[in-house]
Amino acid sequence: MKNSDLHILFACSELTPWVKTGGLADVCSSLPQALKQAGVNVRIILPGYQSVLEKIPAPTFIALLTLPLGTVTLCKAEMDGIDVLLVNHDVFTNRAGDPYMSDADRPWPDNALRFALFSQAVCEVAKTTSASKTDIVHCHDWQTGLVPALLSLDNNAPATVFTIHNLAYQGNITMSEYNRLNLPDELLIQNGLEFWGQASFIKGGIAYADRINTVSPTYAEEITSKEFGCGMEGLLLYRRRKLSGIRNGIDLQTWNPATDPSIAANYCAATLEKKAENKLDLQKTLKLTPDPDAIVFGVISRLAVQKGIDLIVEAIGELPDRNFQLALIGSGDSKQQQQLKKLSETFPERVAVTFGYNEILSHKIEAGADVFLMPSRYEPCGLNQMYSHRYGTLPLVTRVGGLADTVIDYAEGIESANGFVIDSADSKLLIDSMLTTIDLFTDKSSWTQMQRNAMSADYSWAESASHYIQMYKDVLGSD
Ligand code: ADP
Ligand code: GLC
Repeated sequence: MKNSDLHILFACSELTPWVKTGGLADVCSSLPQALKQAGVNVRIILPGYQSVLEKIPAPTFIALLTLPLGTVTLCKAEMDGIDVLLVNHDVFTNRAGDPYMSDADRPWPDNALRFALFSQAVCEVAKTTSASKTDIVHCHDWQTGLVPALLSLDNNAPATVFTIHNLAYQGNITMSEYNRLNLPDELLIQNGLEFWGQASFIKGGIAYADRINTVSPTYAEEITSKEFGCGMEGLLLYRRRKLSGIRNGIDLQTWNPATDPSIAANYCAATLEKKAENKLDLQKTLKLTPDPDAIVFGVISRLAVQKGIDLIVEAIGELPDRNFQLALIGSGDSKQQQQLKKLSETFPERVAVTFGYNEILSHKIEAGADVFLMPSRYEPCGLNQMYSHRYGTLPLVTRVGGLADTVIDYAEGIESANGFVIDSADSKLLIDSMLTTIDLFTDKSSWTQMQRNAMSADYSWAESASHYIQMYKDVLGSD
């Protein structure tokens, strides 16, 4: 089978740069581009959120779809040569703000209805052959978990692939909520959507998709264990022959220190000394003491338990009085915001925290920081450690998921090391490792060697896309 014979419908709930809460959005815009470059036919389907429609002045009307949960308008826009189908309905189009949350701590109360409706629209489009045929619907995370479940009821439906970006977000609902969705009864079985007396959207993807994958090989293994399986480990073990791990790539154009328009001075491995200008710019931007000798720890993160932000707060509070600074931007959990605010008030000259979502500042932190902190409790892949490598900013990470697959610890030897790895998400280990970075930072030749190692990593999407293409061909039973 030729790549050009493949017709993929990419179903997702985020898409950079139109709507993004995390790495899912980045992957859902860069993987289709890589597939397209390899000759695959790809279309994307996305909810028509108000914030998205504001960015697209005139989407083309395609059809009205009458679905069991309501009537939606299907429109079409284009992103870098790829058709993006938008599913428009009041629950998306008439709502400002975050795609999932009504405020920092509360999801929209009708999320089950919103994403069940979206999934019904995806199924309808997938089964229609008039405009373009679909061989495989490639679904992402719980928001599209019902798609493989619903399509499994139809013998003529396209095949399905389900990518797990984060198993902890499951879209679980009570039985009474489930009953209000009027979904087919036969899906509510133990090896289907039923999950400990509730119904689970993500379980639809795991139980019914023809292939399941996660976004790094290590996470694919981890989630078959009790520790990381979030209650799904039994089903994942049962389906392990259909489960694989494909590490994410990154967008090498957006994250390129040699051309990045958001940073003060462009640089590459041969001109690393210019990174110092970015550090100074970051320190000035964030009102930290301008000091080239201070080691700057950077963080760009959702504020969620997953990310170990509490460990960073604890570590910074307990680190001995050395010459370090922290530059953090985060959005999410309000309790974590309070802890961070308190930390910055205690150490105003060395801790700068910014809340909200700010793409430009995130680039400035990647370019200006010396070390990027990511002490995640689990990490399906993680993109920021790879962005950090590209910017010669050494990541300090936990040995989990995609972090374990990309970061080589200092202890492995200076010839290959590209960061610092701690064995588990623990504040004592984090403090020890931060102290190691502070000491090593004064040894400029070792540091520069590690930066060069980091910057030489190949994170292009082409390699990962070729694994997806192989998976698509396997699903369709052809090579
Ligand atoms: P996750 O998807 O679990 O949040 P990833 O590391 O895969 O983690 O991806 C996070 C993405 O979101 C990166 O592109 C990162 O730069 C971006 N990001 C996270 N928080 C912010 C923020 N507050 N401002 C700007 N970008 C952010
Ligand atoms: C999720 C994961 C993150 C991953 C991203 C993109 O949000 O938490 O580790 O990089 O999806 O796949």
